[in-house]
Amino acid sequence: MSVRIIGVIGAGLMGNGIAHVSAQAGYDVVLSDVAMERCEAAKATIAKNMARQVAKGVLTRDAADAALARISLTTNVADFAAADLVIEAATENEAVKGKIFAGLAGVLKADALLASNTSSISITRLAAATGRADRFCGLHFFNPVPLMALVEIIPGLATSAATTAAMQGFAAKLGKTAILAGDAPAFIVNRVLCPMLNEAIFALGDGVGSVVDIDTGLKLGANHPMGPLALADFVGLDTLLSIMKVMQDGTGDPKYRPAPLLVKYVEAGWLGRKSGRGFYDYSGAEPVATR
Ligand code: CAA
Ligand code: NAD
Repeated sequence: MSVRIIGVIGAGLMGNGIAHVSAQAGYDVVLSDVAMERCEAAKATIAKNMARQVAKGVLTRDAADAALARISLTTNVADFAAADLVIEAATENEAVKGKIFAGLAGVLKADALLASNTSSISITRLAAATGRADRFCGLHFFNPVPLMALVEIIPGLATSAATTAAMQGFAAKLGKTAILAGDAPAFIVNRVLCPMLNEAIFALGDGVGSVVDIDTGLKLGANHPMGPLALADFVGLDTLLSIMKVMQDGTGDPKYRPAPLLVKYVEAGWLGRKSGRGFYDYSGAEPVATR
């Protein structure tokens, strides 16, 4: 099946990035969220990020304008009826995703492909809610999507070989490198990365170092492009907490327990960059460490 129209559900950090790279690769994109203001905010973010690419000389103004014109916005699930591939990038919550898949069941074309950008949740379990387990898989992008070269493809138990091949073709068309990951909690990259971020939060909570010392330590001592606390803020502390809980529940292994300080920050509504405060305060021109 040839893929021409991409649906993206959830217009947050990841949804806007997936819509951005899909439109830039020439696909028509339908982007949805629960409220039109969120869709419009996402399109404004895409325009800002494309303008940055234009300024850096990696995208022409004409190509950026054409890509933006290929993105339409909706809050109505019926607008996914013509989509060839729908990518769900809504909040990392299994119940939310299950409801979205149930809503799509009567709308999607019979041969449409469906994917989830989940960071951690079982693809096989999510597939059961889709009614098209053979045409469903995990398609895991990385943040910020326009800059990150990797996509993880996670086939569930019932995903067909044709679906996996179609996802590999889509990733290649976006210019991304795809790896295949098994359907285990958090797949490959987050299984390794998120416990490291969680450990940095344990270290902060235990008073081993300040935010700046922990982040400087990993940047200069391990050559990470961002310190782990800045990266946790960048990912979203609510998303990181959900991932750690999925790893803890899915494996039964206490080594994945979320750091108490991470739980507290999420309870306080300090979700990182997207809420304006996490381990850094983002209200000024430059982020300021808070501990
Ligand atoms: N589209 C979107 N965002 C862009 C962008 C674009 N085209 N170009 C730059 N950015 C963003 C950056 O995030 C950052 O935001 P602010 O300006 O709002 O502060 C800023 O633009 C930095 O821009 P720079 O041009 O200075 O970019 P850089 O060369 O310093 O690289 C970076 C930034 C690529 C994010 C780099 O710091 C990096 O690689 N950080 C680590 C990222 C990482 O590990 N991502 C994976 C997270 S885990 C995940 O995604 C999986 C999961 O399920 C949780
Ligand atoms: P986010 O909080 O920035 O955005 C989630 C969006 O989903 C919000 O705008 C919310 O309004 C919307 N939403 C919630 N319910 C919806 C519904 N029923 N219909 C349509 N939209 C709905 O979160 P995010 O960081 O973009 O994460 C989205 C998904 O991508 C999650 O599964 C997350 O685990 C995954 N992911 C996140 C990252 C990251 O670094 N943040 C990286 C890779 C994958």
